[in-house]
Amino acid sequence: MAIQELTKNLYYVGVIDHSLKVFDVAILTAYGTSYNSYLLKTEEGNIVFEGSKEAFGEEQIEHIEEIAPLSSISYLFVTHTEPDHSGAIHLLLERNPELVVVASTGALLNLNKIIRRPFKSVVMTPGKDMKIGQYTFSFYSGLNLHWPDVMFTYIHELKALVSCDAFGAHFASDSLLLSKEQNKEGYYDALKYYFTHIMGPFPSFVIKACDAVSSLDIEWILPGHGPVIDQNPQDQIALYRHLAEEGLPSNDQNKVTIVAASAYGYTKDLALQIKEFLESKGKEVYLHLIDALNYAEEKPKILEHILHSGSFYLGSPTLVGDAISFFYDILLSFPYTKLQGKKAAAFGDYGWSGEAAINLTERLRQLKTKTLPPYRMNFKMDEKQEEEFKAWLESLVS
Ligand code: FEO
Repeated sequence: MAIQELTKNLYYVGVIDHSLKVFDVAILTAYGTSYNSYLLKTEEGNIVFEGSKEAFGEEQIEHIEEIAPLSSISYLFVTHTEPDHSGAIHLLLERNPELVVVASTGALLNLNKIIRRPFKSVVMTPGKDMKIGQYTFSFYSGLNLHWPDVMFTYIHELKALVSCDAFGAHFASDSLLLSKEQNKEGYYDALKYYFTHIMGPFPSFVIKACDAVSSLDIEWILPGHGPVIDQNPQDQIALYRHLAEEGLPSNDQNKVTIVAASAYGYTKDLALQIKEFLESKGKEVYLHLIDALNYAEEKPKILEHILHSGSFYLGSPTLVGDAISFFYDILLSFPYTKLQGKKAAAFGDYGWSGEAAINLTERLRQLKTKTLPPYRMNFKMDEKQEEEFKAWLESLVS
């Protein structure tokens, strides 16, 4: 890869990895990725922005040294410390122990545990600018994008925003610049997948981060992955905002989603009674009755309805001592951040042991919903149980 001067004094010194197929164990990278880092020459020593992944540390150092000796690097700005950006920082510090690491408090806490030896450091503080040579740096919180250590750096004189994971994508681009990338369709495909899996669980934080940088005059976004955004950077921020807004749970207290499966109609009957009760209280109820034939088709509608409902109720009969797998699939489709605070409960009729509603309740608690006690019925209700069921129904709206 040709090392590239992006603009006067600013160089790309990152590493492109076309071969990566899986990132973070669970995320596919159909277009590879890059571990971006940048070198800025200043009148008071040079700066490197971002470390690299352990396996690519030597390559990053080679790229740095094509521009300037490692001994000339006075500062390493670290925007985020997941090991794909921090795993090789120890190599930089071993070769240049005078290097000063500039990072958020959270990032420095992590780095101390990753590097396990003393190093010089300065804390990035929003609202407290740093001046090095002819450049001024301001810091903006990128809190929880997608780690709590993220801090963006804005370089005033270059109108450049160093954003690490934010506003990027897993996409190996030899052209380095988005304006020159030929495969734009692939790039945006990669970006949407990346957003869904990495930023998507934190939509409200994405919107806050977009707000934090919205008033900046930005000509360059220098992300941690994928090509440099050298054209219409505000469009990139707007795209991130749009994707975040699409995934933002609305928690409408008037909307309720009920999902039920029923082997012999008993759990379905409970679901219908819950629906009727909630509608009598003025709620707008989405009821999904699922089985092995219709689940795949119903699933996208179920997820959409749960996302926008203030409460949701899952009714499963017990099959081999547990709930039916569809319900776990539904719950696994949401990061806890999207269900947190919604009112939720499990219910279900059973013949023998009745674990389904108990087990689903445990999962609802793990997902930080406002979890109500489950309602379980063994075959059909007697009069006393009808009264208990009415009391449980009232608990849904109290
Ligand atoms: Fe690219 Fe969160 O690491």
